[in-house]
Amino acid sequence: MPDDTFVPHTMGQQFGRRSWAEPWKIKMVEPIRQLDRAGRERAIREAGYNTFLLRSDDVYIDLLTDSGTNAMSDRQWAAIMLGDEAYAGSRNFYHLEGAIQRRFGYRYVVPTHQGRGAEHLISRTAIKPGQWVPGNMYFTTTRLHQELAGGTFVDVIIDEAHDPTSLHPFKGDMDLAKLEALIARVGPEQIAYVSLAATVNMAGGQPVSMANARAVSELCQRHGIRLFLDATRVVENAFFIEEREPGFAGRSVASIVHEFCSHADGAWMSAKKDGLVNIGGWLAVNDEELFEELRNLVVVFEGLHTYGGLAGRDMEALAVGIEESLEDAYIRARVGQVRYLGELLTDWGVAIVQPVGGHAVFLDARRFYPHLPQDAFPAQTLAAELYLDSGVRAMERGIASAGRDPKTGDHHRPKLELTRLTIPRRVYTQAHMDVVAESVKAVWDARESATGLRMVYEPKYLRFFQAKFEPLAAGETATSEAGGSEAAYSSSRG
Ligand code: F0G
Repeated sequence: MPDDTFVPHTMGQQFGRRSWAEPWKIKMVEPIRQLDRAGRERAIREAGYNTFLLRSDDVYIDLLTDSGTNAMSDRQWAAIMLGDEAYAGSRNFYHLEGAIQRRFGYRYVVPTHQGRGAEHLISRTAIKPGQWVPGNMYFTTTRLHQELAGGTFVDVIIDEAHDPTSLHPFKGDMDLAKLEALIARVGPEQIAYVSLAATVNMAGGQPVSMANARAVSELCQRHGIRLFLDATRVVENAFFIEEREPGFAGRSVASIVHEFCSHADGAWMSAKKDGLVNIGGWLAVNDEELFEELRNLVVVFEGLHTYGGLAGRDMEALAVGIEESLEDAYIRARVGQVRYLGELLTDWGVAIVQPVGGHAVFLDARRFYPHLPQDAFPAQTLAAELYLDSGVRAMERGIASAGRDPKTGDHHRPKLELTRLTIPRRVYTQAHMDVVAESVKAVWDARESATGLRMVYEPKYLRFFQAKFEPLAAGETATSEAGGSEAAYSSSRG
């Protein structure tokens, strides 16, 4: 006789909760190992206290980046076998071109080896020396290519984005008044284009609302200025729109992505993130003349316009990845896992950027180490301490990443001094997140004993990738040749 008090699959309700799970299971595994404490001390010392210089064999759980670290699906690996490695006119290019046209809605497509390849091309073609490029917070490679093309980046993100405690639901939004003021000051013809990123990486993976994208687009049209979108994490952005923006509940992320992209004249993407591949990028525009220029330039710097630095198989895997990335169940689990880690840390009182963003949990190094000046590299210190504690690899997103002002040579001094725990897509389990959270908590509990770092080697471009550091002794003060606004940093430290 059936027992009708037993209701399968709803057992969780007895405890007042229903869990969700990833819409996939694991077919292949890659072993990882944890070095002992002495091994970790040696490894981080040899790496100059820069997690970018660690060997991945010495890393236990790798949260350096979500870039190119995705696990591909069985369908994508099958697509790899369908690579058409013809130099010109590979069928895989046409599959990729079709996927981009269909899903993002742009007319003309140029493949690139990764995001910065696309940034290089768009910067060279769309910026005249002396022009300005407003954007919603800088990104390292994006701003560098704008500067190398003779442009000057201007941050026009809303003020809330610089405040790690603000609960604004769309901290990636542009401040229309700041944008208007810049246009009034320099004149619309001196604006190369407006550069809108969704989500905003350096602000904590924070989304841009549809209403803001629409308003920025209308403002640009009024002044005859082009709007280009950095679509690197636009699917994660669409998830937040569905969840938070009135009128979008229940809409598919695919339809939201398509509508969002329609507000821009073109877009580029580092496909190594939301594209669910290990390498790849693209640039797509609606303007035929601009496309002609881009298609000509890509053969100089990347490769022929039907491969742009990619193998045929890479383009095929990306065409499949684009489709998979737009599945609602996938993106819910993806952002859900990041949020799970963020909520554990929040419950334990650890200082993180709120709300938790799409691709990473950002630790607020200012609140970990209020006793360290910004010149002692608090976020770099925190990444090193976390590695020492457990072998978990994070990344600095503070003064080292911000680099120097090319005109004055001084450090840029970002308000946000963050350490990023970046979650690769479809790679780690909830148990890995638990281990990470416990290690972060241990470093939080030991926060008063951190002494900071000094930079002993500094490369010219994108210094955070290759810079080397040494620990400061307890009581030793950091020195900086840049000087300037250290007082401002101290007064705004919470
Ligand atoms: N735009 C954004 C918003 C990015 O996050 C990145 C890369 C790029 C452009 C450049 O793309 O790496 O393919 O050349 N971000 C990586 C990160 C490196 O770790 O956040 P790429």
